[in-house]
Amino acid sequence: MGRIVYLNGEYLDESQAKVSIFDRALLFSDALYEVTSVLDGKLIDFENHMKRLDRSMSELNYPKKLDHEIIKLFHRELVKKNNLNEGVVYLQVSRGVAERSFDFPDVETDLTVTAFTQVKDLLNNDAAINGIKVMTIDDFRWGRCDIKTVQLLYPSFAKASASQKGFDDAWMVRNGYVTEGTSNNAWIIRKGTIITRQADNLILKGITREAVLECAKELKYKINFKGFTINEAQAADEAFITSATTFVTPIIKINKFKIADGKPGKFTKLLREKYIEKVRKIAI
Ligand code: PDD
Repeated sequence: MGRIVYLNGEYLDESQAKVSIFDRALLFSDALYEVTSVLDGKLIDFENHMKRLDRSMSELNYPKKLDHEIIKLFHRELVKKNNLNEGVVYLQVSRGVAERSFDFPDVETDLTVTAFTQVKDLLNNDAAINGIKVMTIDDFRWGRCDIKTVQLLYPSFAKASASQKGFDDAWMVRNGYVTEGTSNNAWIIRKGTIITRQADNLILKGITREAVLECAKELKYKINFKGFTINEAQAADEAFITSATTFVTPIIKINKFKIADGKPGKFTKLLREKYIEKVRKIAI
């Protein structure tokens, strides 16, 4: 027996969950996803993930929306059935199964909804404690990075390139400015100001990013929404990433440059603590 996963209304052993080879996710990467973190067996920021899913679906003209209450129910069931205390629930929605055609299928086509859990050490892991190293790479993704699609080959390629070179992740760069990490938002701190790119079509507006911005305001940090260059990042006082799987994770090196003394920064640490305290309180 493996994990219990969710497929179109059914809970199945992972070895029994099968999707058609004609699924649009497989043929066209025509699918959207959300990753919700789980702490103490509870969902973190679930409603905001659902709002972003709705937005992704409407941006790509998905013909219907999904009921958030139903999604919440199967997320909780998966957590329960798999005894998940700390980790994530991955949710994917594709435009369904249809004969291969570049046109969208009939609006009546059933969406394919899948979900599974992953155990993950979100609170105490080496990256969070000791920080990570990132390299920079050209951002060759399409122009709608604000939509959370499963079209992830380039980010996967970038992450694997970073691993091969001894880095933990890559920050992608477009027109001289850092956009984001392969699966996280990018931040630096310079002279007491937190800097992160404005949420435009070239980055995903992270749910963690939004909560961390709230924390930064509560901590009375100065925030500047602007793009930053590789040089600015390399010379930053602190740098970090945010995402549902990393929360706030410090960066200690960018390319061959140590960030400050090469240890996780103190504002970054405070932000991480504040973020965890905040989301834990409102987990459902
Ligand atoms: N990735 N930017 C990109 C490109 C991402 O893929 C993600 C999330 C984020 C951060 O978003 P959030 O704070 O809502 O997790 C930013 C998820 C975790 C993933 O693909 O596994």
